[in-house]
Amino acid sequence: MEPSDHEKKLKELEKTVRTLKKKLERSEADREQLENASEVRENILKNVISELEDSQIALRNRGDELEDALKNLKTLQMKLVESEKMSALGIMVAGIAHEINNPVNFIYGNLNYAQQYFQDLLKLIELYQKKYPEPDLVIQKEIENIDLVFLKKDLNKLFQSMTVGAERISEIVKSLRTFSRLDEAEFKSVDIHEGIDSTLVILNNRLKQAGGNIAEIKVSKNYGKLPLIKCYAGQINQVFMNILANAIDSLEELILKTNQTNLGQCMIQQPEIKIQTAVIANNWMEIRIADNGMGMDEKVRTKLFDPFFTTKQVGKGTGLGLAISYQIIIELHGGKLECYSQPEKGAEFVIQIPMR
Ligand SMILES: Nc1ncnc2c1ncn2[C@@H]1O[C@H](COP(=O)(O)OP(=O)(O)OP(=O)(O)O)[C@@H](O)[C@H]1O
Ligand SMILES: [Mg+2]
Repeated sequence: MEPSDHEKKLKELEKTVRTLKKKLERSEADREQLENASEVRENILKNVISELEDSQIALRNRGDELEDALKNLKTLQMKLVESEKMSALGIMVAGIAHEINNPVNFIYGNLNYAQQYFQDLLKLIELYQKKYPEPDLVIQKEIENIDLVFLKKDLNKLFQSMTVGAERISEIVKSLRTFSRLDEAEFKSVDIHEGIDSTLVILNNRLKQAGGNIAEIKVSKNYGKLPLIKCYAGQINQVFMNILANAIDSLEELILKTNQTNLGQCMIQQPEIKIQTAVIANNWMEIRIADNGMGMDEKVRTKLFDPFFTTKQVGKGTGLGLAISYQIIIELHGGKLECYSQPEKGAEFVIQIPMR
């Protein structure tokens, strides 16, 4: 090979090396650019992810807030329905009380006159008897027929019980009115035992003829020493009425059932209502009302105080008795009302009220 050829080749080689070097530099620059771009993209992606995470947390929080709001709405709705029911009940009760009030006033107002007139007539008869000690045989027979001696004695008792009854109706009307206007009710010191006794008087008929004349319900009282209690007396009486009426209902049901299965044989167990009162710790008083009737299962016991819950036939129970009682004891008096019961083991209601 000639030296010029050699040089030529060398030059060519140098050129190739240069172009290669340039190419390498360019690809290096490209690589750097690419690297930078992917770093930027990665950063953007990271930002997007963290933003997404943030908005996910925000969404979750918002969801929780919405759930809380829904819960609050539901309780509010329940309260609204409840207060609407209560105010509808209040309006109804006030209407009934108003309607009963007038006729009761007629009866109560005229009872005094009726008694007076009867006394006058009796005096007249006595006067006749004095003036004409030996009346005609027809008259003598009639005197025997109507049993005049007994009639005279009984009449006064009759008037007395009629007056007590009319007074009690007035009281009930009054308590119905106070129930419909809770805030205007009278808060005063009363003898709780008097309240229970007068309620028993009203229920006397039902106690004597339980289960359609089949049996008499025995009432055992064990009254402790109670001071006068400051309370809404009319409403507390309403509670006694509801609980005692339920006890009688339950005993009646048991009496009828026993009688059906025993084919008319007499009851083995004496139907009984036990009433106990006492002052308990922390200046509270307690009233226990127990019956040995049908009792109830757990399912009924948990729903007992719910408005409109009843196991009685349509037309017999409204399911409001205990709901109203609960409101009177818990909300109006800051007390407690509990029930202990098992099926076929009777039921016991415990009322506790703080004495102020
Ligand atoms: N002493 C009890 N023994 C057995 N079950 C009872 C007794 N007291 C209440 N219950 C049960 O509780 C339910 C609810 O009583 P609540 O007094 O509120 O309503 P009601 O007696 O059915 O109807 P209302 O009193 O409005 O006429 C009754 O239907 C009954 O099933
Ligand atoms: Mg009832």
